[in-house]
Amino acid sequence: MTREIRITPSILNADFDHLDQEIAKIADVSDLIHLDVMDNIFVPNFTFDFESASSIIKSCSIGIDAHLMVADVDLIAPRYAQFGCASVTIHAEACEDIAKTLRAIRSEGARSGLAIKPNTSIDEYGQFSDLVDMFLIMTVEPGFGGQKFMSEMMEKVRATRKVIGDRPIWLQVDGGISLETIEIAVEAGADTFVAGSAVFKSDDPSQMVIALRALAQSSSQQSPMRQDI
Ligand code: DX5
Ligand code: ZN
Repeated sequence: MTREIRITPSILNADFDHLDQEIAKIADVSDLIHLDVMDNIFVPNFTFDFESASSIIKSCSIGIDAHLMVADVDLIAPRYAQFGCASVTIHAEACEDIAKTLRAIRSEGARSGLAIKPNTSIDEYGQFSDLVDMFLIMTVEPGFGGQKFMSEMMEKVRATRKVIGDRPIWLQVDGGISLETIEIAVEAGADTFVAGSAVFKSDDPSQMVIALRALAQSSSQQSPMRQDI
């Protein structure tokens, strides 16, 4: 069984002074726009508060995949879902009541995502599988774009693929995804790929998204999901 591949480029490394044009370059070839929301508390960097993020959400021509790296995520996440994000991902390490917050995201009409940092195991979070539409396995320490892909996270991607089984839950990886690393993540079982610097540091962001998708698709055909894993 081959899997559907999704490319969700991150705008963290885009030119913030011309964000509409940057997004327009890739909107037609991308599944969702990955929006990294950082509060300089949960991670050592700041990107958007709710006000500035909501103007991006409002003006974006395709759906937003909000990746919330904020301390008070139980309060914030439902607001992003209510404001129209297609998907809202919370970090297990920041969330007080994971089940309640995932339900709140879904009740506002958004897909719910649960993310874990490199040092966090997936073992205790499989229990939320009925409440998530996507697991996000960080392949860098969250906080900055342009970091090196952590191939040692592939064991956790395989374990998450096992937790998911044949349920329609997306398996996203985020951090250091490029033409050199995307196949490694496909072979481990991922199907949804955030790419930031690989896209916006390239000469032609649209062509890069197309190339990443083609590589992931051909790789997924060569290593279809094995039922016995
Ligand atoms: C990092 C963010 C990522 C980042 C990815 O904390 O969550 O989404 O923007 O950027 P690259 O692809 O450059 O590693
Ligand atoms: Zn992200």
